[in-house]
Amino acid sequence: MKRATTERIGKLPVARRVGDLRRSIAGWRRAGETVALVPTMGALHAGHLALVTRARELCDRAVASIFVNPAQFGPNEDFARYPRDEAGDAAKLVQARCDLLYAPAVEEIYPPGFSTTVTAGAIAEGLCGRFRPGHFAGVATIVTKLLVEAQADVACFGEKDYQQLQVIRRVAHDLDIPVRIEGVATVREADGLALSSRNAYLTPEERVIAPALQRTLRDVARRIESGETGIDTAVEAGLAELARAGFTKIDYLEACDADTLAPLTRPDRPGRILAAAWLGRTRLIDNVPVPQQR
Ligand code: PAJ
Repeated sequence: MKRATTERIGKLPVARRVGDLRRSIAGWRRAGETVALVPTMGALHAGHLALVTRARELCDRAVASIFVNPAQFGPNEDFARYPRDEAGDAAKLVQARCDLLYAPAVEEIYPPGFSTTVTAGAIAEGLCGRFRPGHFAGVATIVTKLLVEAQADVACFGEKDYQQLQVIRRVAHDLDIPVRIEGVATVREADGLALSSRNAYLTPEERVIAPALQRTLRDVARRIESGETGIDTAVEAGLAELARAGFTKIDYLEACDADTLAPLTRPDRPGRILAAAWLGRTRLIDNVPVPQQR
């Protein structure tokens, strides 16, 4: 049998091929250890590292993947300029007690002839799905591949990308992929801005405005929860608040059912308030639960 890969970046073992990933994980499994997977696109920050920490809480071993997935970027999106820093990421992963990095090349994931796409249906069509055609099919396809490749016990995803999390839950459930999908709370800056690799694109002026996104979502949630206004009125007020704060374009602000992401119709059901809005060239997304404490 072939030995597992020995490539390392600093102290971190790295698998470049599916076979190397499988051999490392199979070795742990033979030793009776459990394994958690943390899929990422790199440019790691404390939000990603919280997923690795959670992975290590839940399992004996944590595997992180870094793959900037071309299939989930639109033609005018930031694939080419997406930040890449493998050595820096590897050092952070070691600190977070990650055991293995899976960092395949594009040809390893999408070899010539690749033609399968996973689509999740209605849950992927609203919200970001409306503004980023094909995005969630790209996400669902790569995440399905990663889940099947790793066969981990647990896979961790951030609530920061709440629609993505719900799409992945749907896909894993529908395809009977034997993995527990673990959602992890959004890690934020002190002023409430959700950590995101794309925050690096903000100008200093835009950075001052950005926390208004979370503030607005919390205001909407508070109004719905308290019954101060109806759901539609709370959402309207939120849209006006974002425009006033200086967001140059608002893709959406919606109140949704926390599980299905269908429109929220009753204030007493678990909901999620989600928004996507632009500051200049940068698109920010965020979401909060309603009721706010759950
Ligand atoms: P990426 O944007 O790199 O995010 C990787 C994971 O980190 C996702 O699960 C995301 O929700 C989580 N995350 C990002 N910012 C966070 C924050 N501030 N707090 C908590 N978690 C946060 O999302 C992707 O990559 C890709 O779509 C991927 C799932 C890897 C498929 O290509």
